[in-house]
Amino acid sequence: MEDAGKYGNDKMSRKLIVAGNWKMNKTASEGKALVEALKNEAAGICSCVEIVVCPPFTTLCSVVEAAKGSRIKVGAQNVHWAENGAFTGEISAAMLKEAGVEYVIIGHSERRQYFGETDETVNSRLKAALAAGLKPIVCIGELLEEREGGRTEAVLERQVKGAFAGISAEDAAKVVLAYEPVWAIGTGKTATPEVAEATHAFIRSVVRALYGEAIAEGMTIQYGGSMKPANARELVAQKDIDGGLIGGAALKADSFAELIRQAVEGNR
Ligand code: PGA
Repeated sequence: MEDAGKYGNDKMSRKLIVAGNWKMNKTASEGKALVEALKNEAAGICSCVEIVVCPPFTTLCSVVEAAKGSRIKVGAQNVHWAENGAFTGEISAAMLKEAGVEYVIIGHSERRQYFGETDETVNSRLKAALAAGLKPIVCIGELLEEREGGRTEAVLERQVKGAFAGISAEDAAKVVLAYEPVWAIGTGKTATPEVAEATHAFIRSVVRALYGEAIAEGMTIQYGGSMKPANARELVAQKDIDGGLIGGAALKADSFAELIRQAVEGNR
């Protein structure tokens, strides 16, 4: 039986994760400098939040090196599903693992829009990431026309079910979801906390239908799309919002750190 009030305390038991998606920004030396600055800021932030940075492939190694000995975790922005082979331009999970990478973003809307990513390829990449012990951040989100056409829930349900097809409960429990309404990415338009919360609650209900209450309630679901220091607190204060996937505001140490501090406040 569904009982909204029953889940009221589970937010605190979920892992709060704020991840910076650097997209195609920062060379190796620029990334190193950003992480050095972030390290200083992060030292003073509550250990209750997991801080992740996701640089481009060629910047990963310098960032892993710079983050050593700190609490900052490193993620990649994509991973291929095959172990190796004739896949020009792709990177395998084993390559990321050996580089010291812990997280990986899968199915970002920019990959879905510009690089032919589908629910099926997201599912294949997710399986490869899990098999290699990478922590996946799986992105889902509707387009503006889908929201305006009343198709948001159908799209999200299809994306969640597609991503998790054939994935065991044990593996599903290791996945982080990021809800990123495509119309809010890089546009300055954020979903209102109410709209974001209603959508997160729906996504969690889809996970609940697939895997049951414990896994649904334990799953970190980040919000992404123009999250910044000024709105992070109110967004993360929502019951089903457990952090953020941050683009633009993650490219400077001071704004990213301030956003993380606001998220911690919101999560209390
Ligand atoms: P944004 O990007 O914060 O710049 O909107 C978020 C994302 O695409 O992950």
